[in-house]
Amino acid sequence: MIKSSDFGDEFLWGVAVAATQIEGAAAEQGKGPSIWDSFAAKSGKIKKGHKLDITCDFYHKYVEDIALVKLLGFKVFRFSISWSRILPLGKEETNPLGIRFYHNVIDECLSQGIVPYITLYHWDLPQALENEGGWTSFSINAAFNAFVSICALEYGDKVKNWIVLNEPFGYTSLGYMLGVHAPGKTGLSNFFPAVLHTALAQAEGGKILRAEVSNANIGTTYSCSEIVPYTQSENDILAAKRVDCLMNRLFIEPAQGLGFPTAGWDVLEKFQLEYGTWRLQERMKFDFDFIGLQNYFPLTVKYNAFIPVIQAWEVKAKSQRKPHTAMGWEINAESFYNIIKQFAAYPNVKNIMVTENGAAYHDKLVNGHVVDAERIEYFKLYLNAMLKAKQEGINITGYMAWTLMDNFEWAEGFNARFGLVHTDFKTLERTIKYSGYWWQEFLKN
Ligand code: NOJ
Repeated sequence: MIKSSDFGDEFLWGVAVAATQIEGAAAEQGKGPSIWDSFAAKSGKIKKGHKLDITCDFYHKYVEDIALVKLLGFKVFRFSISWSRILPLGKEETNPLGIRFYHNVIDECLSQGIVPYITLYHWDLPQALENEGGWTSFSINAAFNAFVSICALEYGDKVKNWIVLNEPFGYTSLGYMLGVHAPGKTGLSNFFPAVLHTALAQAEGGKILRAEVSNANIGTTYSCSEIVPYTQSENDILAAKRVDCLMNRLFIEPAQGLGFPTAGWDVLEKFQLEYGTWRLQERMKFDFDFIGLQNYFPLTVKYNAFIPVIQAWEVKAKSQRKPHTAMGWEINAESFYNIIKQFAAYPNVKNIMVTENGAAYHDKLVNGHVVDAERIEYFKLYLNAMLKAKQEGINITGYMAWTLMDNFEWAEGFNARFGLVHTDFKTLERTIKYSGYWWQEFLKN
């Protein structure tokens, strides 16, 4: 039976959330609209037309919610700052009430003995900046840097743990290539400039924090998935390599000073030439104190000549059919172990934190109880895999469960429930699920 003490006394256990997904108060107290507010307002973009104005109402219930973090026994609370709450138009004029709100959240954490980890960008770009091109525009970097400086100067005395970006591949691919997330842009002509400015933002954000926050512990997070070729044919192996460049290597390698992974995929080589990214190699480099890994599923891929550009396609795993979560994501703890090892192999990755991991299920509240045995099993499997990696000498120093409570799961709306705490989106009542109680017990031992 796995115990939290197996990971050592220093190991940091936390729970993660993001502003857009829980805060609500979307237009209250001076907050400007973000690209997600605009996206959710368009019909057909979010399942069942769910909106963002209230979500979990964390904006008004943060005291109660931080008390839940404490009650469940977590030491760390990872949350993000809504850029357009601080700067309603993305730049220049600040919103004092927005700035105050995060002071309140931080102070509440500190008074409860909870360590805050702040994510600076968790996908909610101010709409005013998107109107100027958003992440595709060269001007985004100056705006982001100014936002980082404001946060560092405001909160840096109280908060030492910072995460520059959340899943850069997530928002550049879903938002600027596939168009299924905000701002709904598509195509490589949007994707590549967004990738370039994002790679610059992660390094420059890190440098600003280093300069302005004393004793800062600075990280950034990556979505990651083990990529498995369907067969051992050369075509499938090369297809898997291309997907690996895109999904796993695209942002960590520039931060490591390696530039974009052009050798694995000729399309990236063209991107590098067209945008002159090799000239920016030094600017894209930053020595992060920790790397945040966020893993949910592996991918099995097969060569497919009909798929433009990447010529690869996701298929079901060839081996035995694996169980899936309610998102349709394959449950495969071994692939979690494998991807941790892949990232740990970079020479400059000194310290890994798992900054998100969790599962959505079709939870039901019955007589005041949510019996989510499958989620408990999921966590046991994944924690065991992480323990194996740690025992083999990988420096993993923390784990943050995704997520505190059921919330707005982007294009899935409120339909995908990932929480350890059930949210009733009508009454806003919170009910600890059995998995929440499981964590509470786990963290005691
Ligand atoms: C990654 C994202 O950072 C988070 O916002 C999202 O809810 C989870 N994965 C689950 O999809």
